[in-house]
Amino acid sequence: MHSFPSLTLALITTAAILVLQLAPLSEAQLNSSFYSNSCPNVSNIVTTVIQQALQSDPRIGASLLRLHFHDCFVQGCDGSILLDNNVNGTIQSEKDAAPNTNSTRGFDVVDNIKSAVENSCPGVVSCADILALASQSSVSLAGGPSWNVLLGRRDGTSANQAGANTAIPAPFENLTNLTAKFSAVGLNITDLVALSGAHTFGRAQCRLFRNRLYNFSGSGGPDPLLNATYLASLRQICPQNGGGFSVADLDPTTPDTFDANYFSNLQSNQGLLQSDQELFSASAGAQTTLPIVNMFSGNQSAFFQSFVASMINMGNISPLIGVNGEIRSNCRRVNGS
Ligand code: HEM
Ligand SMILES: *[C@@H]1O[C@H](CO)[C@@H](O)[C@H](O)[C@H]1NC(C)=O
Ligand SMILES: *[C@@H]1O[C@H](CO)[C@@H](O)[C@H](O)[C@H]1NC(C)=O
Ligand SMILES: *[C@@H]1O[C@H](CO)[C@@H](O)[C@H](O)[C@H]1NC(C)=O
Ligand SMILES: *[C@@H]1O[C@H](CO)[C@@H](O)[C@H](O)[C@H]1NC(C)=O
Ligand SMILES: *[C@@H]1O[C@H](CO)[C@@H](O)[C@H](O)[C@H]1NC(C)=O
Ligand SMILES: *[C@@H]1O[C@H](CO)[C@@H](O)[C@H](O)[C@H]1NC(C)=O
Ligand SMILES: *[C@@H]1O[C@H](CO)[C@@H](O)[C@H](O)[C@H]1NC(C)=O
Ligand SMILES: *[C@@H]1O[C@H](CO)[C@@H](O)[C@H](O)[C@H]1NC(C)=O
Ligand SMILES: *[C@@H]1O[C@H](CO)[C@@H](O)[C@H](O)[C@H]1NC(C)=O
Ligand SMILES: *[C@@H]1O[C@H](CO)[C@@H](O)[C@H](O)[C@H]1NC(C)=O
Repeated sequence: MHSFPSLTLALITTAAILVLQLAPLSEAQLNSSFYSNSCPNVSNIVTTVIQQALQSDPRIGASLLRLHFHDCFVQGCDGSILLDNNVNGTIQSEKDAAPNTNSTRGFDVVDNIKSAVENSCPGVVSCADILALASQSSVSLAGGPSWNVLLGRRDGTSANQAGANTAIPAPFENLTNLTAKFSAVGLNITDLVALSGAHTFGRAQCRLFRNRLYNFSGSGGPDPLLNATYLASLRQICPQNGGGFSVADLDPTTPDTFDANYFSNLQSNQGLLQSDQELFSASAGAQTTLPIVNMFSGNQSAFFQSFVASMINMGNISPLIGVNGEIRSNCRRVNGS
């Protein structure tokens, strides 16, 4: 007889523990009203700083969007890419990882955004959220879609340089590899194709596509997938030797506009990076990525709708929430260091 009440007690206790554990879990989600009381104007502040930066650098929006991507793929969207090396080497900056070094840009603009936000609402808005907000503003200012950014990420206290070297896809990778790297962070091929549409603006350096222009895979000639006219223009920008840092537009048709032309470029063999053209031309993608490219090429609103959904998916990669992490006061440094 006495085992019944103790079993009941055990069940109640178990249920209570479950509820206690589940309650913070179900609350623990990003939402678009996170700063509606603590920093209601944050979105306008971010946009204003980017508008100013765009006046002298029409590429800066693209650069900021790429920072959010490179942040989220490495231990989640935690602002880790923004941390500089520290004196004792406990922070080995992701800025020095191969995909980022001499390549990622816009860190000074992130600092300016952070200062402007701190002026209005000190100690409230994370650097990780600033990257998410800056991405939305940049896309929308370039003619792309607007959306309600999910917020509430907190900033990490560590960087993962080795992770940046392995998790971020390289432009030389084939569709199998690209799919695997997206899948590793919970993104599927619809996300891969939609997010690659970010290459509708911004630039890439000669050293990152030169392998396609002269001696592709040791063949003695260019990548057969390159449109001949386009190849000729790329060779002007990117000589066989030297000039590795000179840049070409990722979208040769509308270089600074966020539109669906990236996908029509792929259809006419004008994808700049090997990883771009793979989405349309890889035999492994005939049943998977190719139809998505064709759909986005013919229907810009379908692209915009998917891009927004995939940006939200990407922005949801392992955020630090609740009491985890911190709100950095300087995006380049862990607090107190
Ligand atoms: C699918 C795999 C991807 C690969 C292999 C890739 C690779 C690259 C490379 C090599 C560059 C040129 C960097 C340079 O020359 O310094 C670049 C630029 C860029 N990437 Fe990607 N990328 C990928 C996906 C993405 C995603 C998912 C986004 C964002 C949602 C993105 C946004 C951008 C933007 C906006 C630029 C231009 C940046 C600028 O002008 O500063 N990329 N990407
Ligand atoms: C947004 O998330 C925060 C933190 O989890 C929470 O306090 C707030 O109530 C949420 N707002 C809405 C509208 O869900
Ligand atoms: C919101 O921010 C914008 C841009 O910085 C500024 O022009 C505006 O005055 C701000 N509004 C409020 C209510 O603070
Ligand atoms: C970055 O570029 C500079 C030249 O501007 C070069 O000296 C340096 O070696 C490059 N770093 C890496 C890691 O490639
Ligand atoms: C593709 O992924 C494999 C396995 O991770 C790796 O060994 C290979 O170097 C990658 N290919 C390229 C071109 O990066
Ligand atoms: C993609 O690259 C990996 C490694 O570089 C290779 O093992 C695989 O066979 C390639 N896949 C295709 C479809 O070419
Ligand atoms: C990818 O995931 C989204 C949901 O985020 C879903 O709507 C879409 O159908 C998926 N695509 C594929 C090819 O599974
Ligand atoms: C192309 O590359 C291959 C392998 O690296 C090399 O053997 C060949 O000589 C190169 N051809 C030309 C024309 O440079
Ligand atoms: C090559 O690009 C031009 C536009 O520059 C386009 O008119 C032509 O159809 C393309 N050729 C192929 C084979 O896709
Ligand atoms: C384009 O895509 C939108 C959004 O997915 C859809 O509602 C619309 O029907 C599509 N238009 C055409 C012509 O297929
Ligand atoms: C390393 O330096 C930082 C300051 O940049 C300090 O906060 C941290 O405690 C130091 N860690 C160790 C293990 O010395």
